[in-house]
Amino acid sequence: MDWGMQNRFNSVFNPESGKTIFYAVDHGYFMGPTTGLGDMHKAIHPIIDYADALMLTRGALRASVDPALRKPVVLRVSSGTSILNQDLLHEGISVGIEEAVRLNAAMVAFSVMIGTESSERDTVLGLSKVIDEAERYGIPTLAVTAVGRGLNRDARYLSLATRMSAELGARMVKTYYCDDFERVTSSSLVPVVIAGGKKIPENDALTMAWRAIQEGAAGVDMGRNIFQSENPVAMMQAVGAIVHKGATVDEAYELYLELKNG
Ligand code: R5P
Repeated sequence: MDWGMQNRFNSVFNPESGKTIFYAVDHGYFMGPTTGLGDMHKAIHPIIDYADALMLTRGALRASVDPALRKPVVLRVSSGTSILNQDLLHEGISVGIEEAVRLNAAMVAFSVMIGTESSERDTVLGLSKVIDEAERYGIPTLAVTAVGRGLNRDARYLSLATRMSAELGARMVKTYYCDDFERVTSSSLVPVVIAGGKKIPENDALTMAWRAIQEGAAGVDMGRNIFQSENPVAMMQAVGAIVHKGATVDEAYELYLELKNG
């Protein structure tokens, strides 16, 4: 990697653990108003202090984040459909590379829809174009493996989507946790992070994060299970205990309760 690429890539990882927590608050770009993200400033600060990177849209970044932020930004650069559209996440490039540079993005994120008749080709080619442009400026691309309606979120599917994304040139891949997750991480050429998905009880979200780390994930890209938690700051710290400090699920959950009730 060239120096700029290496530096941006390294910046999203915790130097001690070598792992990462992206705090994802980019949901509004296709879901509109989202529970927990009404007041973006409140949803981001001070939770972001306990994460390694902030994943969001350019609109939210400009409107809600203090430019004195000391965390790297993972900038969403794809969009095109809303939650109302049957053809969910048939996305194209919505933010140009110059804008990503202007916003000092450490990484750009693009959603691919592998296996869907209507959006596979467009999103694969869109991802490839983003990678071409981002590489020119030394910016790593995060491929977000979205799952189309009717497709199984299993190891067979997710390892296909992850491996394809890496082969296309993504420097990191965001996917979902599944049974036999090691099959996904071991067949990827690049680090893999898992999305948290829909809000589930804190203990279950911590269990998912713990399993993902045990099975080779480089970290998590978590949103709803943080900002929709009863205590987002406590939850982020509990996730951090698992990802960075090797805590067990019980230890992390105890920490969550302690911080929440403290
Ligand atoms: C969805 O496509 C967004 O990219 C989110 O950033 C990602 O899914 C992580 O958020 P959550 O943990 O809420 O799934």
